[in-house]
Amino acid sequence: MSTSVESSVAFRLSEIIGALSHALDLTEGQPVGHSQRSCMISMEIAERLDLPARMRQDLFYAALLKDAGCSSSSARMAELFDTDDRELKREFSFVEWTSGSDFVRYAARNVAPDSSGVAKAGKLLRALWTIRKEASELNEARCDRGARIVAQMGFSAEAAEAVRALDEHWDGSGRPDGLVGDAIPLISRITCLAQTAEVFMSAGGPEAAIDVVRARRGRWFDPEIADVFLAIGPDDPLWMRIVDDTAAEVLRDLEPAAGLALADEAGLDRVAEAFAQVIDAKSPYTASHSVGVAAYAVAIGREAGFDDERVRALRRAALLHDIGKLGVSNRILDKPAKLTDEEFTAVRLHPLYTFQILSRITPFADIAEAAAAHHERLDGRGYHRGVGAEHLSPEARILAVADVFDALTADRPYRRPLDPDVAFEILWKDAGAAFDPLYISALAGSGIEVGCFA
Ligand SMILES: [Fe+2]
Ligand SMILES: [Fe+2]
Repeated sequence: MSTSVESSVAFRLSEIIGALSHALDLTEGQPVGHSQRSCMISMEIAERLDLPARMRQDLFYAALLKDAGCSSSSARMAELFDTDDRELKREFSFVEWTSGSDFVRYAARNVAPDSSGVAKAGKLLRALWTIRKEASELNEARCDRGARIVAQMGFSAEAAEAVRALDEHWDGSGRPDGLVGDAIPLISRITCLAQTAEVFMSAGGPEAAIDVVRARRGRWFDPEIADVFLAIGPDDPLWMRIVDDTAAEVLRDLEPAAGLALADEAGLDRVAEAFAQVIDAKSPYTASHSVGVAAYAVAIGREAGFDDERVRALRRAALLHDIGKLGVSNRILDKPAKLTDEEFTAVRLHPLYTFQILSRITPFADIAEAAAAHHERLDGRGYHRGVGAEHLSPEARILAVADVFDALTADRPYRRPLDPDVAFEILWKDAGAAFDPLYISALAGSGIEVGCFA
């Protein structure tokens, strides 16, 4: 990531990543601010260990982005356990999963809440059997993906490796490589402890965090780091700071000044591209959706005569338009059957979440409205606001066309991809009522090849 201020526009990366980490919290079913609070605990430990500035910088971003790869396991978890993946993941963060009996009890508590008797028992057995077979694969995909995303954003190889090794445990019982002791990167050892401490602290206060660290000292956690953490004590002002304020200013003060990271325009593009990967990993059926919508939106914008700056903003809006989906259960997103009213209501909220996430990030605030309007329709029949043409910017109209065109021409659980001609027919049928004909024409005229981004 750029650390220079040469670019005319430069934003504090801590503000951007701090706010985007809220989206990762949503995917993990954690209370908003979990990643930021884990970062604050990590930095307190770094301070007490007197770590060098460069290492603190890596730790700071590794802690904020620790869950960057986690969306990739959401769909499979929801399917295997036949339940809301976010609930499942939140529960999981309390479990000592390296203990077989704890894991079985966790699985029994959470599997198929809508089933009972033999059906439930069958689902439990199937889940346990499959997890046994797929655990390392799932874990590796998650860890590798997280590391790749961190590297893609321009952070150091050390920060990326730290994210990859986040679930390694001091005694070798962790994943993905079963590393032991000092073989685990120091940053991973700190973040591993900090994230567990945060989960317990948020649920039961500092005492609960202290208890879990004491209980897992020497097994999950490096004894030396555990002792540094335990020396903090339940009455330390740190806890009050963490609970009171997870705002950007707190992170700003925590980021090591020596390595202050700034994002220029190219850096902002990389952040948007990386988060598009997080979003697209959420469901196997939308594996390249954000990237696809971005490609079609750019083609439309260029064809419509947008200048480079406007196309760049449009592309970022397209890459991030579905970031709110990180807050929706895969059980709903990937459901192959018709959604219930309640489920449909949950889906319809995702553009609102998109708006809430993006509008808080200074350099993305300008694109928040268009990004959140991708399901709005000219006649007001869309969602989440249900506003009509007079409130829909050209960018919002372009995103609506690009979003539907990609959805129609991509593979879906309930149907094969449609031929582009058929997709255009569908769009034209709703031209004027739902979609702006100007931008359907622009897409057709752009000559962009379907699936060229995959
Ligand atoms: Fe959407
Ligand atoms: Fe979409």
